[in-house]
Amino acid sequence: MAFTTYSTHPFTDQRPGTSGLRKRVEVFRQGNYLKNFVQSVFDAQPDLHGGTLVLGGDGRFYNREAIQIILKMASANGVATVLVGRGGLLSTPAASCVIRKYAAAGGLILSASHNPGGPDGDFGIKYNTANGGPAAERVTEAIYRRSLEIADFRIANADDVDIDSIGSVAMQDMQIEIIDPVGDYAELMTAIFDIDAIRALLAAGFRMRFDAMHAVTGPYARRIFEDILGAPTGTVINGTPLEDFGGHHPDPNLVHAADLVAMTRGDDAVDFAAASDGDGDRNMILGRDFFVTPSDSLAVLAANATLIPAHRDGIPGVARSMPTSQAVDRVATALGIECFETPTGWKFFGNLLDAGRIAFCGEESFGTGSDHVREKDGLWAVMAWLNVLALRGESVADIVTGHWRQYGRNYYSRHDYEGINDKKANGLMDALRARLPSLPGGLLDGREVAYADDFSYSDPIDGSVSERQGIRIGFTDGSRIVFRLSGTGTVGATLRVYIEAYEADPERQLEEPQAALAELIATANRLAEIHPRTGRDAPDVIT
Ligand code: G1P
Ligand code: ZN
Repeated sequence: MAFTTYSTHPFTDQRPGTSGLRKRVEVFRQGNYLKNFVQSVFDAQPDLHGGTLVLGGDGRFYNREAIQIILKMASANGVATVLVGRGGLLSTPAASCVIRKYAAAGGLILSASHNPGGPDGDFGIKYNTANGGPAAERVTEAIYRRSLEIADFRIANADDVDIDSIGSVAMQDMQIEIIDPVGDYAELMTAIFDIDAIRALLAAGFRMRFDAMHAVTGPYARRIFEDILGAPTGTVINGTPLEDFGGHHPDPNLVHAADLVAMTRGDDAVDFAAASDGDGDRNMILGRDFFVTPSDSLAVLAANATLIPAHRDGIPGVARSMPTSQAVDRVATALGIECFETPTGWKFFGNLLDAGRIAFCGEESFGTGSDHVREKDGLWAVMAWLNVLALRGESVADIVTGHWRQYGRNYYSRHDYEGINDKKANGLMDALRARLPSLPGGLLDGREVAYADDFSYSDPIDGSVSERQGIRIGFTDGSRIVFRLSGTGTVGATLRVYIEAYEADPERQLEEPQAALAELIATANRLAEIHPRTGRDAPDVIT
């Protein structure tokens, strides 16, 4: 017998969130949890039969075990070829690159992104389609529906495969290619950016650090920054992927990458520092004594796009997720290009990128990317900044403050209230929703409300409509408050409040954001009745 069919019971909790299925490791290891999801993918995606599947992950605990299970299930389900990153590694953007380059039918990416790893941490899996991007809602819904009715799964009667040596192995009728996880991706980076200019910048003594946070980008960053661009050894820190990320949150932000932030301060400060998350799709950009918000980063890169060789002739348009600040909108207006506002989650950029309507896109949550793949891409953002820095010859701080002087500054902050009781969180959102119709035209703490709605997105390419994507309250002075519940949390509900204010006057652009936004923050707290409804006095995380 080449394979065995086992009967199973459906799980009811396999509806993917904003970025796939994400649960505690122990959940994935319970019964047939992983196998049910994977079989549901094979059942719902007939193109995989006889096609090519890309497989890899961020190297976290359970990655290797999951890869062996998936390989055997792929064989039993008639997949022709699987491309696996050596060691089971593929960063999320590299997986997207490989899917596209080898015209695979799809890919399974194993990651819980920036969530902690290890036996007590999180694991995750998501399916990307042939364009290299996260499956669209209609596909994830089909997989989810299948997971509710599944009665059996198939798995090959085969031995584990050595995934640590490059080369081909057969598993019954299926071919397994163990590929260098870095090669194709590094080649793509060198085709996009001005490698000579960046090399010259580094050779001239420009100092940078890249923090891989013991996650998947270590090998990518070493190859690209140290080998190809000639940065000194040691430029990449925490560069060896560990199953538990060294016990840290592989989350590139001011809190979790505090050591890196410290390297940008004081007498011995480096000129530029950056970090990426567990699976390599997020980025944080720092200059000397300067933090670039992801919303500003997108706007600055869009304004400087033509300095990047692949975009020499200009970009057709840009997109940002709804809660991302409107800084990039102002650049788009100035450039006379299209600007789209999409729901949270990278999958909503896919159609716009495929159709060539946009080239750059981003989210406030440390996600930036372009049309080179269909995922956000941490190292792409770092390379884009290096490219711009090399050609402008100015510091990070000078580039960003100069940008504000030209376009105005969108002060911005996100407040997260984590682990709220689900009922209370939904009650808060429902109460806000009920008040929306009465707000437009009226005043809230002296500011005139221009619009108030629960964001609904109609995809301009396929016409699909996504409703209830977050509450937006926009004011006539350009400021805005957004409320939404997280789709990626694993414990209770997380309320995210996004606050933004526009400041055109250069004299008033250098305030600390929490101070500049204090009045709007108070308005948001009062309007949503955050304290009375949740008992919380302050957010758990302020970004
Ligand atoms: C969060 C971010 C969102 C991002 C997602 C996946 O989702 O806010 O921008 O696309 O992680 O990285 P949330 O927890 O807000 O639903
Ligand atoms: Zn990630």
